[in-house]
Amino acid sequence: MPGEGTWWKEAVVYQIYPRSFKDTNDDGIGDLNGITEKLDYLKTLGVNVIWLSPHFDSPNADNGYDIRDYRKIMKEFGTMADFDHLMAEVKKRNMRLIIDLVVNHTSDEHQWFVESRKSKNNPYRDFYIWRDGHNGKTPNNYPSFFGGSAWTLDSKTGQYYLHYFSSKQPDLNWDNSNVRKDVYDIMRFWLDKGVSGFRMDVIPFISKQPELPKLPPATLAHPEYVFANGPYVHQYLQEMNSKVLSHYDTMTVGEAFGVTPEQAKKFTDPRRHELNMLFNFDLVRLDRDDWRKTDWTLPQLKATYTKIDNGSGEYGWNTSFLSNHDNPRAVSHFGDDSPRWREASAKALATMMMTQRATPFIYQGDELGMTNYPFKHIEDYEDVEIRGQWQELVVSGKVPAQEFLKNIKQTSRDNARTPMQWTSKANAGFTAGNPWLSVNPNYVHINAAAQEHNRDSVYNYYRSLITLRSKTPALIYGKYKDIDPANNKVFAYTRTQDDQRYLIVINFSEKQLNYSLPKGIKINSLVLDSGSDHRVKEGATQLVLQPWQASIYKL
Ligand code: NOJ
Ligand code: CA
Repeated sequence: MPGEGTWWKEAVVYQIYPRSFKDTNDDGIGDLNGITEKLDYLKTLGVNVIWLSPHFDSPNADNGYDIRDYRKIMKEFGTMADFDHLMAEVKKRNMRLIIDLVVNHTSDEHQWFVESRKSKNNPYRDFYIWRDGHNGKTPNNYPSFFGGSAWTLDSKTGQYYLHYFSSKQPDLNWDNSNVRKDVYDIMRFWLDKGVSGFRMDVIPFISKQPELPKLPPATLAHPEYVFANGPYVHQYLQEMNSKVLSHYDTMTVGEAFGVTPEQAKKFTDPRRHELNMLFNFDLVRLDRDDWRKTDWTLPQLKATYTKIDNGSGEYGWNTSFLSNHDNPRAVSHFGDDSPRWREASAKALATMMMTQRATPFIYQGDELGMTNYPFKHIEDYEDVEIRGQWQELVVSGKVPAQEFLKNIKQTSRDNARTPMQWTSKANAGFTAGNPWLSVNPNYVHINAAAQEHNRDSVYNYYRSLITLRSKTPALIYGKYKDIDPANNKVFAYTRTQDDQRYLIVINFSEKQLNYSLPKGIKINSLVLDSGSDHRVKEGATQLVLQPWQASIYKL
């Protein structure tokens, strides 16, 4: 198999959203020392790479995705000494750290932008994208992902600057070679400190459409497919690879918002020397129409997996993830977070996510089966995205408040950003202060302390899955095949490498089911099961599946 033995293909990654992970100085905000304190928890879980969401100096218009200084630590998170200490402790445990590279845009408080907006002939003017208005209006009709226009008029020079996200996140001009050079220096700075690579924020957006023509109506609802297709994106990534990445032993994963599975190969085929992997959003956005929640079916979910798997082709590689800091909690989204089925369905989803031909990314708290938050009022939300959309949609009268609130309760990013639930003590043991975002009240029974020593917990099931994956090359590299794509209750697929063949069967319903294996498939033995007393005979072709049961068999 191509690329066998590559560390980042065999890795299991754990995403940390530092603000919500662990607070050690009682200011209500998670910090770097909190991560260091919990490294043994992660080591025991079995993950070997940590992806740290932005930890850089930032005014926090978008929780650190608006960077003011790429070489400084966000003061709420600690100091550079704390970072160096974290890095050393990660290495001591034979783990690796990758960090967030947010270089499609900076903060408007970044020195480059402070200079840029001073005058039209400032040396930094061309670091950003400035245009004259068009007939007294914005230069074109680009919408911002956070509501309103993607252009803001700057009174000082009378020109507009472009921002795909909030007005505090001006987009950099990657066509300027000085921008690229400065970004590469920042990358080297962190690689020299010992990080093992980057998760690259909205990286396909760096190359803008020449002349910035207006978006035709059909693309206005999903401008990401236009933004991700600028003419020089591959050229810039190849340049970044040859100038920086190729000189270090790294892993890279691009947040590929707006890239279709068919286009993925161009980014991840190793012969092109761009990125190692992408995050494809077709799965986590399967039942989304922007902020609205829509329905999904199991055959649709399976078809998406097949499409994503095909997208990497023979040479490329994929990621597998069901949540992150921008999406609802996995168990609330694809499982059933009612008390009766939460644990069983969280284990079922874990099985699915850990047995793809891809590097798994576990989002903090999903290993405990943490759920969405019981939001009620608009004031319960903190996210810049929700605030912007509330203004644009509800305050303007376009959408009734109740309709908006009903949908964002399920789709909002804040669902995944509530503090990590460590114990059943006050504030879930996250902080002894006042948490920056409310703790989910279910921490009293859903928390790490309660699960670590319970053999049947979601946490310990994740541990078993991680151990099994790391010692089973076929579950990492084996060919993926959906063997029953139309079944709307059972997800059954094989992973095959040479003569090693595994079958994964997951019951996506709360009913017991009799399942006849497709013709020609016979069980050899049960390898791992999400329930406790499941039995299966050698040679079996019929299975009795318990509600939300997930099993891995050897064929
Ligand atoms: C994607 C990040 O994951 C998200 O949190 C952020 O708001 C946008 N990019 C802008 O940086
Ligand atoms: Ca703190």
